[in-house]
Amino acid sequence: MILGIETSCDETSVALVDSDGTVRVNLIASQIERHRPFGGVVPEIASREHLQHLFPLVSRALAEAHATWSDIEKIAVTSGPGLIGALLVGVAGAQGLSYALGIPLIAINHLEGHLFSPYLQREGAAAALPGRFLSLVISGGHSSIYDVRDGEVAMLNRTRDDAIGETFDKVAKFIGLPYPGGPQIEKHAQQGTIDRRRFAFPMPQFKDQSLDFSFSGIKAEAIRIARQEKMSVDGDPRALSDFCATFQDALFAQLFDRLDAIWTSLRGKKPSEVVMAGGVAANGTLREKMTAWGKQHGVIVRLPEKRFCTDNAAMIAFAGLQRAALAGDPRRVTARSRVA
Ligand code: KG4
Ligand code: ZN
Repeated sequence: MILGIETSCDETSVALVDSDGTVRVNLIASQIERHRPFGGVVPEIASREHLQHLFPLVSRALAEAHATWSDIEKIAVTSGPGLIGALLVGVAGAQGLSYALGIPLIAINHLEGHLFSPYLQREGAAAALPGRFLSLVISGGHSSIYDVRDGEVAMLNRTRDDAIGETFDKVAKFIGLPYPGGPQIEKHAQQGTIDRRRFAFPMPQFKDQSLDFSFSGIKAEAIRIARQEKMSVDGDPRALSDFCATFQDALFAQLFDRLDAIWTSLRGKKPSEVVMAGGVAANGTLREKMTAWGKQHGVIVRLPEKRFCTDNAAMIAFAGLQRAALAGDPRRVTARSRVA
């Protein structure tokens, strides 16, 4: 089995995954409560928390999986991108374990972890990876569509400013909703009958016809409306629900605008599956929209289990298995992903 370690941001996570992708254990020590008073992640606090939780979590993972050190064949650790101090805790810990146990260490790009996460299943072995799939990675730090062919990753677009999750978090913070904002906005967007004509948000288009994302215009308009309408958790609940629902609709409309255009622009044989990953992929409304998009386009849509959407080590371990398989599993493998 492979040991996965993830410490790139505010979740210390350790997982043990069998070589067929069965998740034996996936433990997450969330620091959300520690960062909440500051309205966002404080890097120094994150590093210290990782230091405190990492090794106890590894011991717990082994106990819960009824496994011993000798059952671990290799280690996969997130090596970037992320908070440098936070990453260092995971990488140094993984290096120490790799050296002590005499087993290979695989450096994993965090985004590649998200990319493959839709193939992990609730129970049993991972679903078979198709030869080619499109992956929409939407998280607190990234928003991109990737074309994945036989493990080779090509980035088709990216955000020119804020990431979509970051946009959720910043707007939520402005109206006084606790961190992280995505689930909070989703909660308020589901309350009562929504008047979708009350507020309007822009659909950004670039003069050069680029299919990149841009969320800062929607963010600026959301903050302008929120200020003008004195939007807050203690204000008019119907206005707040209308605001949250139309705001998240505008973010999602842009995702589908770009996905539609990219899908149309793909010449020849299209990818057989379209997947979505990252924290924002946990959003129920978006999951419904994505499933409907798949039906409309006659393509298989695969959504990650909600627990594999936000940061977790199972997805890092699974990406480690993919990399090791692609590289023929040498003693030391470096991720050669082209994910930016
Ligand atoms: O993937 P993730 O855990 O961390 C990064 O790699 O960034 O994603 C965290 C992001 C946060 O911005 C959070 O607000 C957003 O995912 N998020 C959501 C939902 N759950 C988490 N956004 C919208 N709706 C949700 N249900
Ligand atoms: Zn992430």
